[in-house]
Amino acid sequence: MKLAVVGGGSTYTPELVDGFARLRDVLPVEELVLVDPAADRLDLVGPLARRIFAKQGHDGRVTTTADLDAAVDGADAVLLQLRVGGQAAREQDETWPLDCGCVGQETTGAGGLAKALRTVPVVLDIAERVRRANPDAWIVDFTNPVGIVTRALLQAGHKAVGLCNVAIGFQRRFAATLDVDPSQVFLNHVGLNHLTWENGVRLGGPEGADVLPRLLAESGDEIADSLRLPRAALDRLGVIPSYYLRYYYAHDEVVREMTTKPSRAAEVAAMERELLGLYADPALDEKPALLAKRGGAFYSEAAVDLTASLIGTGGSPYQVVNVRNGGTLPFLPDDAVIEVQARVDAHGADPLPVPELDPLQRGLIASVFAYEELALEAALRGGRDRVFKALLAHPLIGQYAYADTLTDRLLAHNREHLAWA
Ligand code: G6P
Ligand code: MN
Repeated sequence: MKLAVVGGGSTYTPELVDGFARLRDVLPVEELVLVDPAADRLDLVGPLARRIFAKQGHDGRVTTTADLDAAVDGADAVLLQLRVGGQAAREQDETWPLDCGCVGQETTGAGGLAKALRTVPVVLDIAERVRRANPDAWIVDFTNPVGIVTRALLQAGHKAVGLCNVAIGFQRRFAATLDVDPSQVFLNHVGLNHLTWENGVRLGGPEGADVLPRLLAESGDEIADSLRLPRAALDRLGVIPSYYLRYYYAHDEVVREMTTKPSRAAEVAAMERELLGLYADPALDEKPALLAKRGGAFYSEAAVDLTASLIGTGGSPYQVVNVRNGGTLPFLPDDAVIEVQARVDAHGADPLPVPELDPLQRGLIASVFAYEELALEAALRGGRDRVFKALLAHPLIGQYAYADTLTDRLLAHNREHLAWA
């Protein structure tokens, strides 16, 4: 089995490689190709990946290359984890929206639109080359903004599934609190990527007893603290929002914090420098503890699970993925991409039914999806007016003057990445 990781020079890669090594019975990787234009990073990450495999007794081969076409040739699955413009572009995305009092975040709000505009054309080009090399290969997309990028891929007819680690993070955390194996925790997870709620936490499977009320009663303070939301907010909602909902439910508070603190991009850039220093040490043969300070906890396990199911070597029967709506949320178009539980096998991901949603969730999902539709239009076709419309549609922007100013800022900061601007 051959697997290619596009953006393989990422400092996150050792997390992924550690998962491939630990879970090799589920996903027997014979050849792992790390693809990246950054040779200096590959020179550090590639050898470390080999040392991690060797230490754990994994006999899979690890190769590195900048040649995408060669890398994806014969690959059974291709993982996309790239970041167009790197942390420098992210730093911009997190900064200029604050000028209008709007949240500056890599996937939410105006910064997320900038990321979508930079990323969609690049990912579509890569996917086209994957299809040319091997039309049967599955594409697993981690590349943010995952909802918009996955929809772009599906609309272009690619065999793609989008993945995020928010759900697996909750699953693992709740399992620890409940003292059960993670496989016993089934989340009623619903929404759009980075706009999701856990509406139920079932023990044993989709039909199991819902222990969410118990979790809230017994561990509500702890959960609220980790989401940095008031405990009362969780009790009133009666569901558990992901931490991305804080950008909505506590928008102004977040903006105040962001204007007084260094950006997350700056923090991550500093961590990346330190990580690359560690990776250069030939004695290092495991993922360093520092990696746990990144947001990607458990992402290797989610990736192994999904890839194994798609290529038919194993994997859990139900997984939370980004998938075509197809009537699951009846208030969205069929071709919307939603993040829900799905049955996953070698045929792809098939969403499980979702009970009717509360207007509180339905309204926000519908409005953010409208933004995502306009964002994809802007990413595919370009043009200042399309960018403006997407910003105006976003519920965290919504005002003409802000949308106008933010359009100018977005274009000014992203010209080198936008062919049409
Ligand atoms: C979580 C999200 C990812 C995001 C990451 C950011 O894992 O699900 O989509 O990329 O956080 O983490 P970072 O350490 O880069 O801030
Ligand atoms: Mn994510």
